[in-house]
Amino acid sequence: MIHVEFNGTKVPSLGFGTWQLRDKDCEIGVAKALEVGYRHIDTAQIYENEEQVGAGIKASGVKREDIFLTTKIWMSNVRDGALQRSLDVSLKKLGTDYVDLLLIHWPVKEVPFADQMSGLKKVQAEKLTKLIGVSNFTVAQMKEVAEQLEAPIATNQVEYHPFLSQRPVLDYLQSKNMFLTAYSPLARGKINHEQALETISHKYGRSVGQICLRWLVQQQGVVAIPKAGSEKHIRENFDIFNFELATEDMRKIHALAHPGGRLINPDWAPHWDLHEAA
Ligand SMILES: NC(=O)c1ccc[n+]([C@@H]2O[C@H](COP(=O)([O-])OP(=O)(O)OC[C@H]3O[C@@H](n4cnc5c(N)ncnc54)[C@H](OP(=O)(O)O)[C@@H]3O)[C@@H](O)[C@H]2O)c1
Repeated sequence: MIHVEFNGTKVPSLGFGTWQLRDKDCEIGVAKALEVGYRHIDTAQIYENEEQVGAGIKASGVKREDIFLTTKIWMSNVRDGALQRSLDVSLKKLGTDYVDLLLIHWPVKEVPFADQMSGLKKVQAEKLTKLIGVSNFTVAQMKEVAEQLEAPIATNQVEYHPFLSQRPVLDYLQSKNMFLTAYSPLARGKINHEQALETISHKYGRSVGQICLRWLVQQQGVVAIPKAGSEKHIRENFDIFNFELATEDMRKIHALAHPGGRLINPDWAPHWDLHEAA
């Protein structure tokens, strides 16, 4: 396992995503991931699986302090006050008295960011979360919270895979020593039909999924959180730390980004940063 570091906190570069893992499948998936060696789990209030994530952690027998656990505050809960109340509920469901990282799930324009960051900073001061961060924020929005409001955000969790450039977001995060958490790192399964990735996969004798995840974690300050429902994929995705992609292959994968590559773009999404080359 490799790690990124933020203000002395080590974050495993590979985590286990749980969106759409429900009920017993979620509990079994989380327990299996921890058995395989994952030590970073990603959930959210809106996934309605925090209870099962907590049960999976308990069933695994892995000590709580050895796991980096993230949850996200849903859009209806971002106001100072509501945020704390909703986090209390999340912690009860997760069966823990703190998370390692707490994120605002989407930028909510109707609530001043000062209000949202005030809630985040308070729960961090109360040690209910170790790190705080955002998700789906643009560079301008990150600048507002990090620079004007002085919220010590550790990460921005955004969609990132070979078909979508995140150059502007990554440049900003790297310049501030923050890290990027890559969601949908396997492009929700779409990576499997790309000839260029298959060619690289044959060269290294690795699956296309492993090539994509290796490409992500090999970049400075990037963490990836693939979701897998099957044991085969859980194991395969974890087995990416004993090979390295050559610079030319890293470049070839970067070149696959294109303007239509974004998969997650709901009505409430912000005006995304665009990379001219993509
Ligand atoms: N912050 C946000 O707004 C946001 C948005 C989206 C996602 N997320 C987080 O990011 C996590 C990952 O994103 P995601 O779930 O959208 O998509 P993803 O991880 O890119 O893709 C998951 C899909 O890929 C398949 N898969 C897994 N490993 C594979 C492999 N080695 N080879 C081929 N296919 C493989 C899975 O199949 P099986 O399940 O059958 O194994 C599943 O269908 C989520 O679970 C969630 O925690 C956050």
